[in-house]
Amino acid sequence: MAATASFDLRRVRDALGEQASRFDVDHLAQCDSTNTQLLARAQRGSGSGTVLVADVQSAGRGRRGRSWVSIPGGNLCFSLLWRFAAQQRLEGLSLVVGLAIVRALQSLQVSGLSLKWPNDILLDGRKLGGVLVEVAQGAQGEWAVVIGIGLNLRQAPDLAEEIAQPFAALSECGEPPARELLLAAVLRALLDVLEAFAREGFAPFVEAWMPWHAMLGAEVTVEQHGLVRHGRCGGVDALGRLAIDMPEGQVFVFGGEVSLRRVQA
Ligand code: BTN
Repeated sequence: MAATASFDLRRVRDALGEQASRFDVDHLAQCDSTNTQLLARAQRGSGSGTVLVADVQSAGRGRRGRSWVSIPGGNLCFSLLWRFAAQQRLEGLSLVVGLAIVRALQSLQVSGLSLKWPNDILLDGRKLGGVLVEVAQGAQGEWAVVIGIGLNLRQAPDLAEEIAQPFAALSECGEPPARELLLAAVLRALLDVLEAFAREGFAPFVEAWMPWHAMLGAEVTVEQHGLVRHGRCGGVDALGRLAIDMPEGQVFVFGGEVSLRRVQA
């Protein structure tokens, strides 16, 4: 893998255009995890729109306690801090983040995308990226939410064993966009959805989210808190919960520490 190219913050600001004032973007060559670092900055009072991007993470974290493997020069890894009012319901937040990511990628002419509930980004059915949303309580009782996003730009055959599942990279669709341009596109799309989510919650996003739903109608297994359910995957509701149709009736599953798998035929 080639050495990591330098990261040009001015290029990010230029690509953000009028939205540049809404973000405060910082770059580190290396850190443990941008989520960990940004949670610490949130505790020290950093504001909504603070962004931390790293070339390499030594302890990148994924959902369900898993690690997120850095591909030097081959990932975009960043976290965004967003503060929400104390009364805000946060269910569905990771779904709107996924929606913003596919919209941003689509604006960069990437096709073959879908979303695996609650928050995996798929390219041709394989994992292109993931979202780790972590929530802390701010000093005034508001929510300090750190939205961590990892997107694969290039394949890393030598890491295939470390990465437990089939994964995809944007390089499969041609030369991937510069990380600065991809970051700016995702931040712009996030700004749109986060502002709307703060006003209206997830309900208005149901219709927009459903066409991206990778598992709709598939036979699935859902595992949460040790409870395993089998059924047919339905849609999402106004809170971002996933409907599972089981012989004994329909259940709705919240995101978070949940595993959703397609039953192999
Ligand atoms: C997942 O698919 O399990 C979520 C992966 C999230 C990875 C990103 S990379 C930037 C941010 N920092 C982390 O430690 N994790 C997230």
